[in-house]
Amino acid sequence: MDIQQIISEMTLEEKASLCSGASFWDTVAVERLDVSSITVADGPHGLRRQRDDADHLGIAQSVPATCFPTGCATACSFDEELLAEMGKAIAAECIAEDVSIVLGPGANIKRSPLCGRNFEYFSEDPYLSTKMAAAHIKGVQSTGVGTSLKHYVANNQETLRLCISAEVDERTLREIYLASFEGAVKEAQPTTVMCAYNKVNGEYASENEYLLTQILRDEWGFNGFVVSDWGAVNDRVKGLAAGLELEMPTSDGVNDALIVEAVNAGKLDESVLDQAVARLLKVIFDTQITAAQKAKYPLDLDKHDEKARQIATECAVLLKNEDALLPIASNKKVAFIGEFFEKPRYQGGGSSHINPYKITPAKAFISMFPNAAYAQGFSIDEDKTDEKLLASAIELAQNSDLCVIFAGLPDRHESEGFDRKHMRLPDNQNQLIEEISQAQPNCVVVLHNGSPVEMPWIHSVKSVLEAYLGGQATGAAVMDVLGGTVNPSGKLAETFPLRLEDNPSYINFPGDRDKVEYREGVFVGYRYYEKKEIPVLFSFGHGLSYTSFEYSELTVDRAEALDTDCVTVAVNIKNTGSRAGKEIMQLYVAPKSNTVVRPLKELKGFKKVTLNPGEEKTVTFSLDKRSFAFYDADLKDWRVESGIYGILIGASSQDIRLEKDITVNPAIPYKRPITVNSPVAEAMAHPKVAAFLNKLRESVPNPPHLDENNPMADMFAAMANELPLRSSAMFFGRMITQADLDEVMK
Ligand code: BGC
Repeated sequence: MDIQQIISEMTLEEKASLCSGASFWDTVAVERLDVSSITVADGPHGLRRQRDDADHLGIAQSVPATCFPTGCATACSFDEELLAEMGKAIAAECIAEDVSIVLGPGANIKRSPLCGRNFEYFSEDPYLSTKMAAAHIKGVQSTGVGTSLKHYVANNQETLRLCISAEVDERTLREIYLASFEGAVKEAQPTTVMCAYNKVNGEYASENEYLLTQILRDEWGFNGFVVSDWGAVNDRVKGLAAGLELEMPTSDGVNDALIVEAVNAGKLDESVLDQAVARLLKVIFDTQITAAQKAKYPLDLDKHDEKARQIATECAVLLKNEDALLPIASNKKVAFIGEFFEKPRYQGGGSSHINPYKITPAKAFISMFPNAAYAQGFSIDEDKTDEKLLASAIELAQNSDLCVIFAGLPDRHESEGFDRKHMRLPDNQNQLIEEISQAQPNCVVVLHNGSPVEMPWIHSVKSVLEAYLGGQATGAAVMDVLGGTVNPSGKLAETFPLRLEDNPSYINFPGDRDKVEYREGVFVGYRYYEKKEIPVLFSFGHGLSYTSFEYSELTVDRAEALDTDCVTVAVNIKNTGSRAGKEIMQLYVAPKSNTVVRPLKELKGFKKVTLNPGEEKTVTFSLDKRSFAFYDADLKDWRVESGIYGILIGASSQDIRLEKDITVNPAIPYKRPITVNSPVAEAMAHPKVAAFLNKLRESVPNPPHLDENNPMADMFAAMANELPLRSSAMFFGRMITQADLDEVMK
């Protein structure tokens, strides 16, 4: 298709009409020029294709599809291949339904455990989040189906999400919130990016030229189109000029007319519209569903259910396992307790709500344990304890070898569209776990939740398995892990704080009516807890296995590097237990001689390794400039400070097994500009300034307070070092005049 030719044949009205949807889910067709429409539908963890009534809140029904594990779960796999496989399977369902673009993945950072939509997002860490997002995109797009990386950017809460302004300083935006999108854009080139509802630093994300054009396109090289979140458009003409190509859903022609009017009035250059149309047409042509795709990716929902189960097993995180209570031998008398055992919570509410083609609750597999029994224990629909249910659950627990309590957050506590009010489980569940653990010493808790919960009972239970919202096959996957047919290998993609009050965003979440200030800066998640030495319940990267691993032989290929070098790190890992298992090895970089305020360490690499008992493998990581850099807001660029950096290899952020230092220097030495406001000590480090000032100093006797015989001379010298050059004139008893300063500045 010759896109430029088509554009030249289009009327102004036709071009404007392409810039908003034809309906809730379809783009506009221009039949006379053979431009057909495409259909988009929600993801991210499955297909929500609505044929009849349409909505963006998960209210009306959608066609049956596979509900795969949600983002909060899949991130715990730390497995890019797995994410790609899942993306491919979702795409096959899109192809069968003639859906060209599946909306997702969501790469927003988990700033607070309270964000109602955390279940859709990956992590508190931008490196992990962006890698997972990139893998998901690559998997989907390998089939020719498009994606929409969302919600760009700083949409980290549901409260007032359509109008609040996220106030984020430049360095924080770059290092945390944008970084979570950046890698995915650069590495996987999503077909579309969905702009967020909210404002960022006072300007709507949907009309923010800095974000949509300068950063996304000019810096990162994005070449798809930007689509608005559903209803995110504020000023359509401003948005178009800023880089928002497609408004969704349809504006019923209202905003298209404004675009036409703006062009006719000379307020919008027609070339801006042409460029938007060119970007739209390219994706529309590229993502048409073809017969060839249908033949290549035939739909097999049963296979996808199997895949959903396998993925869910890779995501479950074994948080605690005292006395190796898990796995459970099949002859044990197990008391399964909690309504989630028969009604698992496997997905979240809102636009990602899938109509699963099949659901397998854990209860369907109870026969794995012939001596097991089930008691409901509590009702999912309320927070109040039902004494009768509780009493019979306690009785069952007392008469069993061990009990497994299925607890979690019901939809009414956690969903798109609103934020959580607190970080607790419903009271009836906490009471049940507490009381049962008093009656039965061998307690396992299985959790179904989309983000961290407080665990006041943690010391009275022996095991905790975090199953998150693991998709339609979560019940089967949990039973696989409980029974030991699968060895758990997931690790937490977020910190579980002990209390909500410990979370860095606590004071500034969800902000006031107009603004939410990200005052914790770059100190999000573990970056904060570690810096402040705040004990946590479970740390970022934590997760146990039924086997054990030994880390050894850390080598870094050089002791000194320039920031332009690629540093190779190698380390050995051995399975020292008696079962096959998988270990997620994490590499953190710890700046050790920094002058800039930085987190103690940051994740810069991870690898998931499969090992048979006794097997040993060597794993390598590559580090580049970004692994050591921070974002220098004055310089408007990434910068590496000269100095020592620790290369830390760990089984979690708090379980560092091996460590080696490396010295890294910038290839182009950084020189801070000297001004009259530079402190004396810093200015004196500049050879020309030092020579000039020393010459002056020699020409004038030292003022009495700086005389070397004065016992306080050192103190005064230290004070002098902190003074800006401009005040040194006064301090040095006019030894340095304004004229001298002007001279040295020149
Ligand atoms: C959500 C998006 C979703 C869209 C369409 C919005 O409310 O924020 O994530 O893709 O609706 O349903």
